[in-house]
Amino acid sequence: MKEKFYITTPIYYPSGKWHIGTCYTTVVCDAIARFKRMSGYDVFYLTGTDEHGQKIEKVAKEHGESPKSFVDKQVATLKELWKKLDISYDKFIRTTDEYHEKAVQKIFAKLYEKGDIYKSEYEGWYCTPCESFWTKTQLSDGKCPDCGREVELTKESSYFFRMSKYKDRLIDLIENNDEFLQPKSRRNEMLNNFLKAGLQDLAVSRTSFKWGVPVPFDKDHVVYVWLDALTNYITALGYGTDDESLFRKYWPADVHMMGKEIVRFHSIIWPALLMALDLPLPKKVYGHGWLLLGSDKISKSKGNVVDPVVLSDRYGVDAVRYYLLREVPFGSDGMFTNYAFLSRINADLCNSLGNLLSRTTAMVNQYFGGRLPVTDKKTAYDAEIEKEINGLQGKMSENIDNLLIPEALEDVFALIGRANKYIDETMPWTLAKDENRREELKSVMYHLIEVLRVAGLALMPFLPETAKRILSDVSENPETGEFGDRMRYGLSKEGAAITKGEPLFKRIDVNKESKEMEKLAGEGKEEKKEESPKGKNGEVKEEKKKKHGAEEYKEITIDDFAKIELKVGKILTAEKVEGSKKLLHFSVDTGERVRSIVSGVAKYYTAEEMVGKEVVVVANLKPVTLGGVLSEGMILFAENENGDVISVEPSKRAGGGATVC
Ligand code: MSP
Repeated sequence: MKEKFYITTPIYYPSGKWHIGTCYTTVVCDAIARFKRMSGYDVFYLTGTDEHGQKIEKVAKEHGESPKSFVDKQVATLKELWKKLDISYDKFIRTTDEYHEKAVQKIFAKLYEKGDIYKSEYEGWYCTPCESFWTKTQLSDGKCPDCGREVELTKESSYFFRMSKYKDRLIDLIENNDEFLQPKSRRNEMLNNFLKAGLQDLAVSRTSFKWGVPVPFDKDHVVYVWLDALTNYITALGYGTDDESLFRKYWPADVHMMGKEIVRFHSIIWPALLMALDLPLPKKVYGHGWLLLGSDKISKSKGNVVDPVVLSDRYGVDAVRYYLLREVPFGSDGMFTNYAFLSRINADLCNSLGNLLSRTTAMVNQYFGGRLPVTDKKTAYDAEIEKEINGLQGKMSENIDNLLIPEALEDVFALIGRANKYIDETMPWTLAKDENRREELKSVMYHLIEVLRVAGLALMPFLPETAKRILSDVSENPETGEFGDRMRYGLSKEGAAITKGEPLFKRIDVNKESKEMEKLAGEGKEEKKEESPKGKNGEVKEEKKKKHGAEEYKEITIDDFAKIELKVGKILTAEKVEGSKKLLHFSVDTGERVRSIVSGVAKYYTAEEMVGKEVVVVANLKPVTLGGVLSEGMILFAENENGDVISVEPSKRAGGGATVC
């Protein structure tokens, strides 16, 4: 029998327009769910909508609609979006579904009968957008500590959940069960700010509005929206209904995934409720970081909307999925910029992956009439390629199990990069000129097709459409199935049809297209013309060149130095800046995103020489425009006695994003 795997996203507020940040949790969970299905698990992937509460009631009113007709429309739009993004959920729950509302009432009544819910009076500060109560001391400058917005003093009769009773068990859970709350960094916050600071009982009903599940035995009250919402994870499986078979099969959840701002609800309130209900606890609660635009969490209320539908229509759904899955180090915040988005597509999808497919399929067509050759002959490089192919699934599984999603994708791209290098090493175009080396040529073609076949399978959970195209070009069944033993080297058959299809992704002129995107987003503000503090046009400063003389060094304190954020950056692409003899334009992966950086080193390095290097980047310099191109940081170079400028690089691989300390 298959092992079960139950994964959930939070249920979404259906209260407005969706932006690329809101798609983050769902796309990530989708990739995990697909990977687990292909790895042979019986997966249940749950998502849905959180439709009750004062916030929705207010927004619906602003639209001149009843809450239900408002949320119905919103839910339809959200489902369309998930369809567009190829989200393979197994169930979509709405908290207005009748079975859910009834189950919530049963749960409420059960906790009341048990004495874990009691009636009293509540006075507190309420944040309507977050649907959260705060005590005066929890407020930050008199505002909501979660979102920074205004709060209202509220006094009303309320039912309370006896959460304080579970304080010690909750502390024990978070302190002594490493698996439960991840990443680790979220644990101290929960322990110190909430649990150890004194855990109070929680108001779990409201009387000041009506849009909610009525308390079954006191119709003046509606159930607090977070109690209503959190229980979706079990009611969706039929808990509290006549058919609890799915609940028995899938509960407890293997992963509850969410953004970091709602970890508190999932790692404190939710386990306390489950303890009160005598139910097993979820195995893992994971709070991922935010996708930021500028320095804000992308959010419509702050006016920064990046429309996932516009992006998908223009660049393809898989470009959007790839960006979300690959760009942000999982668990940390990442920044969305048009430039980073476009550079990723170019560097990874168009250059690395697209080129490998088009070069390989073109060669098999040119040299072997589009039929895959097989041979016993090996080249000197084949053993390593075979080893990389056979190691891929294991590496990816480990990364997915540890929720290292970008790393799992990097595993595939490492194999793709290795295969591109293999082409340079074996030089098939030279082999093709020599009749005596025909067998070696066959071997090279076979190994390249095997890389594409296995990489195509490995990409299915992440980029389903692209993966299918790759697989059908190399004659592997593109229909979703399990990996089984298909990830092993050597399964392609002699004579298999190899097709040269359309390019997977079109090459983009990043600078031109960034400007188009700015217009599309309605942000077409003129770039500020600023000069680099480093020197006009970014060339290595004259003043610095003289430093070898008897000039005095200005001392700075360690605190001054600490203000400079130095990071390792990996150069993904490089090109000359049009109209400048001095400037090179790089796209540099600094971990949290890909940056556009301009340096005045064209005299010392060619663009090609710089690609692939790991360099040191000053990451917190104010962005400037150099030669008409945005520069978001500075790459460090050393200058020797002869005036040669040499890039400063770590002595061994450190990885883009590593801190220089
Ligand atoms: N309704 C609650 C969850 C209840 S679960 C019992 C909620 N909904 S939400 O619509 O505001 O958020 C849904 C998910 O989207 C959350 O995981 C949230 O963190 C995520 N994101 C919303 N904006 C985001 C970014 N800018 N970046 C990354 N994730 C973001 O909270």
